[in-house]
Amino acid sequence: MKNNLRDFLKSAGLTGAGFFAGILSPAESQSIYDNRILNKENATRFNMCGYAAPGLETVRIGFIGLGNRGPSAVNRMRRIEGVDIKALCDLRQEKATAAKKIVENTLHHPDIYSGTEHEWKKVCERKDIDLIYIATPWHLHTSMAVYAMEHGKHVAVEVPAATSLEECWQLVQTSEKSRKHCMILENCCYDFFELLTLNMARQGFFGEIIHCEGAYIHDLLEGNFSKDKYHNMWRLKENLNNGNLYPTHGLGPIAQILNINRGDKMDYLVSMSTHDFMMAPMAKELAANDNFYSPYANKSFRGNMNTTTIQTARGKTIMLQHDVTSPRPYSRIHLVSGTKATALKYPLPGRISSNHEGWLTPKEFEVVEKKFEPPIVKKIGELAKQVGGHGGMDFLMDWRLIDCLRNGLPLDIDVYDAAAWSSIKPLSSKSLANRSNSVDIPDFTAGSWKTNAPVDVFLQKGGNTKVVL
Ligand SMILES: NC(=O)c1ccc[n+]([C@@H]2O[C@H](COP(=O)([O-])OP(=O)(O)OC[C@H]3O[C@@H](n4cnc5c(N)ncnc54)[C@H](O)[C@@H]3O)[C@@H](O)[C@H]2O)c1
Repeated sequence: MKNNLRDFLKSAGLTGAGFFAGILSPAESQSIYDNRILNKENATRFNMCGYAAPGLETVRIGFIGLGNRGPSAVNRMRRIEGVDIKALCDLRQEKATAAKKIVENTLHHPDIYSGTEHEWKKVCERKDIDLIYIATPWHLHTSMAVYAMEHGKHVAVEVPAATSLEECWQLVQTSEKSRKHCMILENCCYDFFELLTLNMARQGFFGEIIHCEGAYIHDLLEGNFSKDKYHNMWRLKENLNNGNLYPTHGLGPIAQILNINRGDKMDYLVSMSTHDFMMAPMAKELAANDNFYSPYANKSFRGNMNTTTIQTARGKTIMLQHDVTSPRPYSRIHLVSGTKATALKYPLPGRISSNHEGWLTPKEFEVVEKKFEPPIVKKIGELAKQVGGHGGMDFLMDWRLIDCLRNGLPLDIDVYDAAAWSSIKPLSSKSLANRSNSVDIPDFTAGSWKTNAPVDVFLQKGGNTKVVL
């Protein structure tokens, strides 16, 4: 520990992120888009990384998707100063109506949109909305985000933002063209241990970071087969695809620590999966007594454990795992391994070490934790815990998003992050289909990763948005 303490407070040395403001004709845009898809020839014309949209005194929000996840976002947003909730949309009227109850007796008076599959478009078309917040099934994310940006709205979209490479590029192209933010709602970037390790990394605690690991290991077997947990069984249907279906919870925090898209980039990956030993047998067993499950019997499901390794351009490695069936404790791993120290979050509690003899004692850990407490946690960590949402991280994420929009600051997570992090799903699937051969990861930044500034963990600007409990 002493060795590391010596190097604690190295300055991060943030440099400004310049961007080139070019205006494209529709034909030019289409041609760039086609080139990117077909030839992987990248030519960013407007860099959304570090882009600061004009500040908004009030952020007027329209929510789309109010199933399990959406209403908790409504509940968090209503507690943030300078938010006006204008619209609540869900295909199912009862979901939209229930969400409206959350803002009863507050200053928010949202209109309800429901009943048809395209009702959400009306929300995006409204002139008095600034931000569309999307919490629908995965296959709807990109089309909704693109339509919203095309109609002049910033977008916050649940994870993953896209399900195919084409969709990843659509997000990038639309955000650049419209100059609207497209943030992927990767709440794990705002969890307390992840923020702590990001701050430590930035201040040199780990030395040069060599290798990181992340995961989404969460037993959702019963939930995925439940008749009413996910609307129209969308999540079970997604599991008919192979690969790492949900890479961003593990990857997002690590990507920020490794400055992916902001100093480094993911170069290529190799992916390997086990066979499926759990989902097809469960579908078969359920279908034997209940015809509801017949469409899922005799189908091929995702291999239960997927392991994907990623090489970065600067010679670092990332290992990602995805397993949402095995009966084992929840884990996102979150390993940060550097030349001077190591951190590991799971199995909880999170730990830190600087030698091969073991982890810091809880007392030593506390010293480090206090020294590196990130400014955002110092400022509203306790309030976030009170509001809740996965222990407070969801609130930190929403508060920071609103604070940046109100103060006209770049977002911590931009469209290139949304695209790169989401691209692991289709790319891992491609590698699996080809005996785990390596697959290139597109550079969604078109070379700007070399000069883009890292995420501002120091809360240098803004931070003045109040919380209403
Ligand atoms: N970041 C996290 O920690 C976290 C946690 C849970 C879920 N999620 C994400 O949130 C999203 C939603 O998940 P969920 O568990 O709430 O699913 P859900 O099925 O409970 O909710 C989805 C909602 O979308 C609605 N919907 C479907 N089609 C629509 C349409 N055309 N127009 C309007 N509404 C439509 C459905 O009626 C449903 O209420 C997913 O992307 C999921 O990955 C993220």
